[in-house]
Amino acid sequence: MSQNRSATWQNFFRLLVTAAANADLYNLQHPQVSHLVEKALKLIQSLMDADTRIDIMLIDQNIILDKNPLPETLHTIRFVDALKHRGIEHLSLRGEINQAELLQLILLLAKRQQPPQSPQNSTNLRFGSIDMSRTVQGEGATRISQTSTESDLLHCERDRLAEICTGASKNRSLSVTGLKEIVIHFLQALDQELDPLLAIFPLHQQDQYSFTHSTNVCLLTLAHARRLGLKGPLLHDIGIAALLHDIGKLFLPVDIINKPGKPNDEEWQMIRLHPVRGAEYLIGTTGVPQLAVVTAYEHHMKYDLTGYPTVRKNWQQHLCSHMTTIADIFDALRTKRSYREAMDASKVRNMLSDLAGQELHPELCSSFLQMIDEVATSLP
Ligand SMILES: [Fe+2]
Ligand SMILES: [Fe+2]
Repeated sequence: MSQNRSATWQNFFRLLVTAAANADLYNLQHPQVSHLVEKALKLIQSLMDADTRIDIMLIDQNIILDKNPLPETLHTIRFVDALKHRGIEHLSLRGEINQAELLQLILLLAKRQQPPQSPQNSTNLRFGSIDMSRTVQGEGATRISQTSTESDLLHCERDRLAEICTGASKNRSLSVTGLKEIVIHFLQALDQELDPLLAIFPLHQQDQYSFTHSTNVCLLTLAHARRLGLKGPLLHDIGIAALLHDIGKLFLPVDIINKPGKPNDEEWQMIRLHPVRGAEYLIGTTGVPQLAVVTAYEHHMKYDLTGYPTVRKNWQQHLCSHMTTIADIFDALRTKRSYREAMDASKVRNMLSDLAGQELHPELCSSFLQMIDEVATSLP
């Protein structure tokens, strides 16, 4: 394959993957998606002029086009990963693929879009696995498993949150719609049979500014709140508040966030400002629920008000702040830091139980621990 042709194919996959990322960020009907699809369509039509059919194999991390491996790029890797995740290892493009068919492909590449029950073959686009006995061939085809695991959900939402927050830290406004979608996804997952809380249980490494931590705290707090019978707009606001509780950390110098060891006194002083920074940021952001401002401000206060920021003696913390604090401590202790190991569930359980009534709200702590115990007993 000529270098030119290879570059055009790479560009085609880049456009598809970018369109899928945009479909995740907005939706499949968003103008940006249509624009990218149009460009991809022009490219593929120019490539397909010379071929009436092309077979694309996905082997390991590679795209093989008519027996030629395409150079690996971030986009080709993402393309392969996404389709393999859907059980697809082979695509056949015929004639002049149209816009609707490309959108069908993008739907399969997108992380957050609900895929169809199984990839639908059409005139110019057919899917299959390398093992032809499992190839999808129209009606009655082998059904490709679409089941995502619980941790896929958390990974997906973590990436989504990272996108939203990183954009916001670069002076763009926070996408409240995107945050609402994350909460809706978590609530849907909690409604389904598979318990997404199981995904919280493995011990984890601290990632840079921990979006994993924020999504874990959100999922735990939502599950806890639902258990207490909270529902409707309040439940959604609680989810957004938990998701954003640490947003003030985005405004800390990166050296402090990424410091491998324990922070020194001066750094601690700055870290202790993140609740106020977060609340200040959220209060000026359109569409953010008031509860998120309150929770960002209060989540390190503790039940006995011994935490930070310092407030007057009879300060009344919101229920959501109490719940977020409990989930926050639970998740933080389960995470390995450079200066300490992650703690196992029973140790964390005992520590939380010891803190109940002092640093943590006693009744809320007890209902949270009940929930954790139930999840722990259903662990495989
Ligand atoms: Fe915090
Ligand atoms: Fe936190």
